[in-house]
Amino acid sequence: MTETSVFAVNPEVAENAWVDEAGYFRLYEQSIADPEAFWGEHGKRIHWMKPFTKVKDVSYAPDDLHIRWFQDGTTNVAYNCLDRHLATKRDDTAIIFEGDDPKDSKHISYGEAYEEVCRLANVLKAQGVRKGDRVTIYMPMVPEAAFAMLACARIGAIHSVVFGGFSPDSLANRIVDCDSNFVITADEGVRGGRKIPLKANTDKALEKCPGVDKVLVLRRTGGQIGWVEGRDLWYHEELAKVSDDCPPEEMNAEDPLFILYTSGSTGKPKGVLHTTGGYLVYASMTHQYVFDYHDGDVYWCTADVGWVTGHSYIVYGPLANGATTLVFEGVPNYPDASRFWQVVDKHKVSIFYTAPTAIRALMREGEGPVRRTSRKSLRLLGSVGEPINPEAWLWYHKVVGDERCPIVDTWWQTETGGILITPLPGATPLKPGSATRPFFGIKPVMVDADGKHLEGACEGNLCIGDSWPGQMRTVYGDHERFVQTYFSTYPNKYFTGDGARRDADGYYWITGRVDDVINVSGHRMGTAEVESALVAHAKVAEAAVVGYPHDIKGQGIYAYVTLVAGEEPSDALRKELVQWVRSEIGPIASPDLIQWAPGLPKTRSGKIMRRILRKIAENDYSNLGDTSTLADPAVVDDLIQHRQNKR
Ligand code: PRX
Repeated sequence: MTETSVFAVNPEVAENAWVDEAGYFRLYEQSIADPEAFWGEHGKRIHWMKPFTKVKDVSYAPDDLHIRWFQDGTTNVAYNCLDRHLATKRDDTAIIFEGDDPKDSKHISYGEAYEEVCRLANVLKAQGVRKGDRVTIYMPMVPEAAFAMLACARIGAIHSVVFGGFSPDSLANRIVDCDSNFVITADEGVRGGRKIPLKANTDKALEKCPGVDKVLVLRRTGGQIGWVEGRDLWYHEELAKVSDDCPPEEMNAEDPLFILYTSGSTGKPKGVLHTTGGYLVYASMTHQYVFDYHDGDVYWCTADVGWVTGHSYIVYGPLANGATTLVFEGVPNYPDASRFWQVVDKHKVSIFYTAPTAIRALMREGEGPVRRTSRKSLRLLGSVGEPINPEAWLWYHKVVGDERCPIVDTWWQTETGGILITPLPGATPLKPGSATRPFFGIKPVMVDADGKHLEGACEGNLCIGDSWPGQMRTVYGDHERFVQTYFSTYPNKYFTGDGARRDADGYYWITGRVDDVINVSGHRMGTAEVESALVAHAKVAEAAVVGYPHDIKGQGIYAYVTLVAGEEPSDALRKELVQWVRSEIGPIASPDLIQWAPGLPKTRSGKIMRRILRKIAENDYSNLGDTSTLADPAVVDDLIQHRQNKR
């Protein structure tokens, strides 16, 4: 694939889209020339209880870092996502639920969603949850997960959704970090025909969380679960006890909406904090323009609500726009590899948004499972979470989209709240593998390792030069870490942690993380987290983890493990360690390859030279760089031999 392969905008798409190419440039220039005027206008897209008079108050200076948008306005996110649509859309479908079992699906109208969220909000209130309290949501992909988020938003509680694939320990750490005392979960989840013991995991986690006094449990499967009298409450029983009238709390634009934990290059996961007004403006605006959402569309994002994509583009963006959003409980290959496309046909999905890892996995199954389905309803495809290789892009375009549907390759992060770099379907000629151009108001800045600004076509580190309303505001409970992580490497800019290339047309090509974060199947994982899980095992003396290219996952997890003296490597121990990491963090952190390392390459000051470990993991020994500064250069040869003999 060369950069000359450009897919022109389809004139028919442009004609019906919110913006065409000229419109994009005009709006983009306005947004950069006068952000106050631009966001002052677009900030009005949501309902404000008290309109804002101040648009933007931002300083990126490390000693005075603050980010405020629409700061004197008041609003409520749940009101915007539900109440506001009742007059015109009470009976329209808000959520289509498609269960893991293909026989299990239902439509939930705006009226029904509103009523259930009000009840759930009243349950929270009755149980003592107040504005500003943190509520942990550990749920399967069912509509009640969205209701739980909206119920928190309705009463001003801050939700922290923890992905249902995380282990009891990971759940406990997140509960403790934000001092949450209320958990919403389900008896069990179901994915790909298998049960996930969410309540049992919660019980185990809560052994370490004395602060939690109530657990609300949704009955999803009816499976056997433990029960703590006085602490555990059934969702259906409590909802039946309360009224469906719950006035929305008037929230300041800068009041917190949610915390979402994400991995960083060091230490434990960070609680990314998003606030109310700016977040909703940005999530809803990007959802409308990037997916070119129009009334009548059926929109499906396959992410899990445990990740930011689920927050912004399953729940908040679509519902704020009065859209029909599909919530899918299952996996792409159950009951078979046609499932995604069967669901598309069943519900007449017109906009489909997924991750490259899913596309690559389905691509491996060949065209048959796709071709068996019609997919005529589709008009737009999206990609998110990791770079999409041109081969997968072309397959997605040709086989899934029948060469009819534009693909929006959307680059963004948990921290950014919404999409920052992306094509717009009616406006942007596409280049497979490129996230193309910045969204309105986004000012990408490319810098070299020393922070020098790079102009024109270049390769370097990607920063953003000014704020946008959806930006995170702080790391919950650790503002200093916020400043350090994002604003200290390159002063007066937000540093994304990603490397990128900008071509002569001004298109961005994200090359991946430049820090010690790896991206496994579109899931972010800190190498330090996996290392600390490994060294917590009694037989492990030391561990170093790096990413390596993986055909399906994008990156795989490669662990170098040094055993304590006297322990012998064995296949059984290798399996035990993989299992150990799964139970410490969750299945998404399972090492793909473990290499026994009698020694690790360290500098004389004891720092592990990861650059070398990455090269060895990639099977690239030609370019190991200078190894003379190592305390013991011989360990490198030893590791290479191990790599070549046996994984
Ligand atoms: O490296 C980038 C990659 O995913 C990282 C953000 O991960 P997370 O916070 O979990 O959010 C994922 C969903 C928004 C980024 O720093 N990434 C995300 N989207 C893309 C991407 N890399 C390349 N192309 C993308 N479209």
